[in-house]
Amino acid sequence: MKDLYIVANWKANKTAAEAIEWLREISPLTTLPASNKKMIVCPSYLSVPTVSEFIKSNDLPIEIGVQNVSSFEGGAYTGEVSVHQVAEFAKYAIIGHSERRNNFAEDDEVLTRKVSTAVRAGLLPIFCVQNENALVPPDVKIVAYEPVEAIGTGNPDTPENAQRIASTIKSKCKDVTHVLYGGSVTADNVTSFTNQRDISGVLVGGASLNPTEFSSLIKQC
Ligand code: PGA
Repeated sequence: MKDLYIVANWKANKTAAEAIEWLREISPLTTLPASNKKMIVCPSYLSVPTVSEFIKSNDLPIEIGVQNVSSFEGGAYTGEVSVHQVAEFAKYAIIGHSERRNNFAEDDEVLTRKVSTAVRAGLLPIFCVQNENALVPPDVKIVAYEPVEAIGTGNPDTPENAQRIASTIKSKCKDVTHVLYGGSVTADNVTSFTNQRDISGVLVGGASLNPTEFSSLIKQC
């Protein structure tokens, strides 16, 4: 059975209290995933320690990721959160989301630095690309293919095209072991993507915010 990564990207939503409420609601709904399934939540930085504490004390089968990392190692960078601070709580880091590229002018150079800084701190990048020609920095093992026009629009890519792009990325980038699909994934369409040979999971925005909706998405996989 192939690995399946089901990643919730909460973006700039949910206070720490709302994050705990989500976890409280989802815990009875989520049966322990099979060992090939990984459920990862990516809250805002401010909620990460609270979410981590709740997951540990309730022994939930959920891992933590962040939505961005600093390209600096740490030290005199006012306002930044260092990768070492992140690595205390999280295992994964989404890097290169199109909302970062477009709103914060993150280019290939800065994203390559972010990946190497994250990897040095022991984090696993989930590197987002918008097409098969985007640069994938060395050491990236997990890529999320997310076409911009599919994000938050209700218009997902076709599973066949997502499969074609996933297979191209894997053959071009030898370090990449898993390609996820993201963009308007819901409980209704998730298996059309995860059933594709080269797609190893999904990155979910809108449909991850409601615990009932997200747990029904997980149950489909
Ligand atoms: P969406 O977002 O599921 O709301 O389309 C996906 C993402 O931006 O990662």
